Amino acid sequence: MTMFDAPPVQIVPFQPGHEAEVRRLADRCLGDGYLGDLSPVLSRPGLVFGVALATGGTGAEGEGTGGDIAGFVFGWRLAAGELDGLYPALRDQPRPEPLLRAEAAGHLAILKTIAVDPAWQGRGLGGELFRGCAQRLRLDGADGLVVPAWTIAGRPNLGPVLTREGFHPFAELPRPWAEDCDRHSFTCHHRSQDEGCICGLRLYGKPV
Ligand SMILES: CC(C)(COP(=O)(O)OP(=O)(O)OC[C@H]1O[C@@H](n2cnc3c(N)ncnc32)[C@H](O)[C@@H]1OP(=O)(O)O)[C@@H](O)C(=O)NCCC(=O)NCCS
Repeated sequence: MTMFDAPPVQIVPFQPGHEAEVRRLADRCLGDGYLGDLSPVLSRPGLVFGVALATGGTGAEGEGTGGDIAGFVFGWRLAAGELDGLYPALRDQPRPEPLLRAEAAGHLAILKTIAVDPAWQGRGLGGELFRGCAQRLRLDGADGLVVPAWTIAGRPNLGPVLTREGFHPFAELPRPWAEDCDRHSFTCHHRSQDEGCICGLRLYGKPV
């Protein structure tokens, strides 16, 4: 992509050589140890995994990871019932009809995780990664897309991108990571000293 007044970024398919830097970026953006072992993700059928390579530094003030990966995104086509398996609390919540139809036909996909290096945030890269992944999933046969958006104290980081892309929220999962967060299975940079885990998930969806 060349939309930046900064060094260019190219979005390419994930390769094994990207893994260490993707993990570092995830530690920084999503919490230390949050991503864990990538092999279950990498072995998913229908995986779409894009990596944004910055070819000439960040071009921005501020701290980056120091590497050349500016962001990443991944998602995959969901098997029937897989969404409820990923988020058991969703079973009790209504789901929009078009998403139910897509799921029953095996045509529902999930855009599972997206992150942009803080040095690159706010310059359109998140939106670019999002659209690239959604388009690839659609070309691979998806006709509905769900996005579990991370909320911090009720506010989704990805909210502006999702709104701009015409996605609507359909379910709210309060504190889905609370147990792991309390056990310190990973280190969330947003954990509250008084309240503990304050993060949630807001599920967005759209026929695509
Ligand atoms: C969410 C994220 C991927 C967006 O990437 P990005 O490159 O900044 O996205 P864009 O530049 O395309 O869009 C940025 C928009 O999101 C908003 N935004 C970015 N971070 C935000 C935050 N923490 N809270 C609220 N809004 C935020 C910007 O204000 C901007 O909105 P605007 O264009 O209406 O002003 C990035 O901020 C990030 O990696 N955050 C940490 C990890 C995360 O939350 N991942 C999403 C998990 S669902």
